[in-house]
Amino acid sequence: EHVDVDPAAYDAGEHDSFMRKEMLEQPSAAERVLRGRLDERFGTGHLGGLDMDARETRAIKRVKILGCGSAYYVGQMGASLVEELARIPADAEAASEFRYRNPVIEPDTLYVAVSQSGETIDTLLAVQEIRRKGGRVIGLVNVVGSAIARECDGGIYLHAGPEVAVASTKALTNMFLGFALLALQLGRVRDLSIADGKRLIAGLSRLPEQIQEILDGEEALAALATDLAGAESLFFVGRVRGFPVAREGAQKFKEISYRHAEAYQTSELKHGPLALISPEVPTIAIVPADELTDRNVAALHEIAARGGPLVVLTHADVDLGEVPCRRIDVPRSERELDPILLTIPLQLLAFHAAQVLGHDIDKPRNLAKSVTVE
Ligand code: AGP
Repeated sequence: EHVDVDPAAYDAGEHDSFMRKEMLEQPSAAERVLRGRLDERFGTGHLGGLDMDARETRAIKRVKILGCGSAYYVGQMGASLVEELARIPADAEAASEFRYRNPVIEPDTLYVAVSQSGETIDTLLAVQEIRRKGGRVIGLVNVVGSAIARECDGGIYLHAGPEVAVASTKALTNMFLGFALLALQLGRVRDLSIADGKRLIAGLSRLPEQIQEILDGEEALAALATDLAGAESLFFVGRVRGFPVAREGAQKFKEISYRHAEAYQTSELKHGPLALISPEVPTIAIVPADELTDRNVAALHEIAARGGPLVVLTHADVDLGEVPCRRIDVPRSERELDPILLTIPLQLLAFHAAQVLGHDIDKPRNLAKSVTVE
């Protein structure tokens, strides 16, 4: 199966930048990664490229995800999906660190390499090291036939189409969906019920439309970004499922706006960074409607009490009480899938902040689209 967008014919078209074009392509890119991979009858994912039968899949004791930069952050979201849906211990690590620490490679661990380009040297060398030691690696890769795709034992192509902007958007969204399909498939050969499988399939099928809804709200996010662009330093905070969202939001913001954007676990604020909160330092807080909402709202009060300006990404049914903030309501999905929808407004915030500041959106200073040399 190949990507149905011809890379040679790919240009920014009527858009002022590739990043904007690629953000707007997300609903159709999301449809492509899901196409033919949802098995509604059994409430599971259908990933032919994994090349593992049910018995082999059941024998997996751990899942270890490796990627760099934003791919690593989406890998963290993927690890949560695997743990929640399949109840297999899972974690993500920066491939650039993993390859230098003589990692223990276990035969019953499934290693997952995640990369848009499929050429990132640190991820590629991590894959080679794992395979050299006899580990099984699958790839979540966008570029067909790329080095990482060729080195893996099997995998899932992301079908996002060509991505040109250094700041990755549609490829990351499709990585998340790839992880959701994988977690669903791993879960359904274990203890995930058919009802839960069907609930998640229905959630996944709604995502392209919900992403479109967020993109349609661009104007309000652009106005907000204009204010944020004036800050020298910002915090992005989230808890558990929301933390990788905060990390990715901060990453996108610093990449193209060149502002200092620091991601933190909301739960850790009181262990240090609260000392930095002031009227000059805005905080972007991820507060989904989930079992942690009350804890998150309590943290918002702490920030507000220190004069910290707040932007809260949340769901319409969350009661934020009297907290002074600017609120962004994001459409609600199934709780496990919410992280990807919460990520989309953060792309738009970073994009518009960079535009207000007059930066080169597609080619930010000091960065390359893929880091292929040591
Ligand atoms: C994303 O916006 C960044 N440009 C960067 O962190 C990127 O995700 C990373 O370099 C990994 O690239 P890859 O997905 O092509 O391996």
